[in-house]
Amino acid sequence: MALNARRQDRKRNRTVALPHRKMLEAELPIDRLAARGAGVDAAYETISAELLLDGQARLNLATFVSTWMPPLGARLMAETADKNMIDKDEYPQTAELEARCVNILADLWRSPEHEQATGCSTTGSSEAAMLAGMALKWRWRERMRAAGKPADKPNLVMGANVQVCWEKFCRYWEVEPRLVPMEGDTYHLTPERAVAHCDENTIGVVAILGSTFDGSYEPVKEISQALDELEEREGIHVPVHVDAASGGFVAPFIDPDLEWDFRIKRVQSINASGHKYGLVYPGVGWAVWRDHSALPEDLVFRVNYLGGNMPTFALNFSRPGSEVVAQYFMFMSLGRDGYTETMRKLREIATYLADSIEQIGPYRLISRGDQLPVFAFTLAPEVTNYTVFDVSDRLRQGGWLVPAYTFPENRQDLSVLRIVVRSGMHIDMADKLLELLRRQTERLEALPSPLPPPDVEAATAFKH
Ligand SMILES: Cc1ncc(COP(=O)(O)O)c(C=O)c1O
Repeated sequence: MALNARRQDRKRNRTVALPHRKMLEAELPIDRLAARGAGVDAAYETISAELLLDGQARLNLATFVSTWMPPLGARLMAETADKNMIDKDEYPQTAELEARCVNILADLWRSPEHEQATGCSTTGSSEAAMLAGMALKWRWRERMRAAGKPADKPNLVMGANVQVCWEKFCRYWEVEPRLVPMEGDTYHLTPERAVAHCDENTIGVVAILGSTFDGSYEPVKEISQALDELEEREGIHVPVHVDAASGGFVAPFIDPDLEWDFRIKRVQSINASGHKYGLVYPGVGWAVWRDHSALPEDLVFRVNYLGGNMPTFALNFSRPGSEVVAQYFMFMSLGRDGYTETMRKLREIATYLADSIEQIGPYRLISRGDQLPVFAFTLAPEVTNYTVFDVSDRLRQGGWLVPAYTFPENRQDLSVLRIVVRSGMHIDMADKLLELLRRQTERLEALPSPLPPPDVEAATAFKH
């Protein structure tokens, strides 16, 4: 099945023009393999020219994923593109770097077993979420079987603000998703509402550090304490997984006193994206378990490694080793002080942008960029001639991608714009963006009558 429907139209004979070729051989089919190859020079020139049509990655304020790395890091990635992460026998040193990264993260996240931590690299937080979710499901099933109870109706409790990977996990692994709706001005999971959705079939609660919708941290410690009380009161044991896709590389550096990690006993596992605030190009993610007992043995496969046995837990088999090498490069080159300084600067830019946008007039902040360097804002209720979707369109005309989207169930009345401040964003770029936003807002404010309403499908299509 071709997922890309636009490519299915085979009737049109689509071709691409090749540079520097005589007229007769200057065109190549693009939806069929050409009878004769174009050669590496022409292929390179043609494809790199075609890719100019993509947006400017660094002006894309929609994504959390790294769009800038130090050139030496990029070079190291190119030099290690031929390494296969699964081939631990052939590339033992790459496997060693992966193990070091797991230990570094386990230490950062205060694992009691950080020197022998249980964890692995993945292609991103989505794969890490699948692995952590499976471990929760397996352990719940063991508990239910031991208690002689049926284990056929597992559920997972999480806020409606979870990233789509958790809904995927539930669908693929047949777990009921219990999405706790947003309520009023609370845009993420709260302790009381998490507990109210739990029962003995709950495999775990997912707490997010921080939310994809507005960058806010969910109160992991308070959610865990409420689950401690539930266990004391009703004997129901519900572990916590922290989806720290972004916050796992932010909070340890600039919020060291915030307890959200393995300092909390109920936290059994944590995932993070190396390719977000881990500062590596896509795709690398990490999953770490509190200790050996948090990861059921029968989920782990053993592969031959230098005559010994290397445990692996992954959905994929082959994948590049270069992202893992790049993660270790970033850890080594920046160190704790480099990450701290980077995250501090990003938060400074985010809060500066948020404060300045609030002062423009018609905008209302949903969050302030003071947790993740990410914030969302909406329009004041009096604004009726234009919407956040029009603002997003106007910014796009200036090259900036600032997505507008609608909040989930219960707050679908709320549409916002979101800005993700990432490495590679500087204060002078922030000023340029503000200048454009002020200019476009002035124009929109001067409209004598309302613009046509936004295309609803496009308005809700943005996936987090
Ligand atoms: C909170 C959260 N979890 C999971 C993901 C999925 O991460 P990845 O793109 O690394 O698979 C994201 C991506 O934005 C996220 O923000």
